[in-house]
Amino acid sequence: MVARIIKVDPFDLIVFGGTGDLAYRKIYPAMFHRYVDGQFTEPFRIVGISRRANTDEEFRDTVRDALKKFGDSGKVPAETVETFLTTLAYVAVDATGASGWSDLQHWLSGAPDRIRAYYLATSPDLFGAIAEGLAHNGLVTPASRIIVEKPIGKDGASANAINDQIGAVFQENQIFRIDHYLGKETVQNLMALRFANILFEPIWDAAHIDHVQITAAESIGVEGRGAYYDNSGAIRDMVQNHLLQLLCLVAMEPPASLDADAVRDEKLKVLKTLAPIDESNASTLTVRGQYRPGASSGAAVPGYLEEVGKPDSTTETFVAIKASVQNWRWAGVPFYLRTGKRLPQRVSEIVVTFRHVPHSIFGANPDDVAENRLVIRLQPDEGIKLWLMIKEPGPGGMRLQHVPLDMSFAKAFEVRTPEAYERLIMDVIRGNATLFMRRDEVEAAWRWIDPIRNAWANSSEAPKPYFAGTWGPNASVALIERDGRTWNEELTS
Ligand code: BG6
Repeated sequence: MVARIIKVDPFDLIVFGGTGDLAYRKIYPAMFHRYVDGQFTEPFRIVGISRRANTDEEFRDTVRDALKKFGDSGKVPAETVETFLTTLAYVAVDATGASGWSDLQHWLSGAPDRIRAYYLATSPDLFGAIAEGLAHNGLVTPASRIIVEKPIGKDGASANAINDQIGAVFQENQIFRIDHYLGKETVQNLMALRFANILFEPIWDAAHIDHVQITAAESIGVEGRGAYYDNSGAIRDMVQNHLLQLLCLVAMEPPASLDADAVRDEKLKVLKTLAPIDESNASTLTVRGQYRPGASSGAAVPGYLEEVGKPDSTTETFVAIKASVQNWRWAGVPFYLRTGKRLPQRVSEIVVTFRHVPHSIFGANPDDVAENRLVIRLQPDEGIKLWLMIKEPGPGGMRLQHVPLDMSFAKAFEVRTPEAYERLIMDVIRGNATLFMRRDEVEAAWRWIDPIRNAWANSSEAPKPYFAGTWGPNASVALIERDGRTWNEELTS
């Protein structure tokens, strides 16, 4: 199958934090791949911005290295890489001061009507100052957009403050809040699966679904991001955004269209119907853990406290939560969420487990007929598995087997799966906000998360230890097994 490319209009992409980790690992490689696939219309330009002085040539050299490391540039003719690099420039701007803004004005002045995407790949503390600097220097045109990365704030109050600062300069439809999980192919496939098939929607409810599990497991530790991570922890880093967004896509009502606000209105309703978790119930509905020394891919690895050099840290590196969506469709259906670092493997998946058949004609033991299960694998090996009961072939009576209808996207479609950032940046240039978080969504997510964090902060219990390379604390297993259910055993087998 050949990928179909819809070109985007000419644009300028201006990357603040342009010499940072996110820019080198994700943004430039994403732009490079879109360029190689022929998605850009000339003219287009990319400018990296940071405070330190740098020449265009020095900047291009660092991007060349980054493309080699993170962007498969070795598979592309060297001339293509060099031509791409000529579209890159560097401008030094002090985001919180006065210097450099006139150089940026000068750089942009030749194309006042062209689409401008300002990407703030910086710490959120700088979002307000940069938005103000852009306005103050007359750089916000009608065709401008701003892209901000999570975390937006560290709680509801700080998120409001950041949103106010950006909102004072940009209209809501010019603001693109990235949650890169929404750019993952299989996450978009979840919408296709639910709303482009008649099969699932009629049974997508409490009458037919027993429970839902959402797991985002990582085998890595904090990887040199200790200073950020220790102030964040898994609940802010992964649950407030990625896991809640996945939950919304599973639980939302069918939107009237794919229009950005139609989709976001439905997601917002889900966030608003999440049953509150606070000091009264956090100890039964949540588990937090922190990894101790252990093993990863056969090698010994340090524990979290040693990794961040803070022997007293109570930051959680693992969270499991039993959430409930309080509405007619989902009453009584638990959504078990789980994420952690230094787990045995990197895997993100959604498992929808349907109810048992109401009456078995195949034997008295209800386990003879296992439940249907839909497994949506986000990574690695993106795909969908639908577990069904069939008769085991051959003689020997009516013996049943639980088998998966298994569709691996890589095998079914021989096209490269684009990275989430490729899709998302192209959507910004197109002005399509469907896969981005609206202000009220971010704030509703914090409204659910803040009381959980407060409950933890006021509790005398520390996060429960787990050995690196295991599936988190025992309490996470107990959280689901208390209800007579288990985490998807495919992962542990
Ligand atoms: C980021 C988190 O948002 O997502 C990281 O800040 C995490 O801590 C990453 O490692 C996981 O993303 P992915 O795409 O590798 O699942």
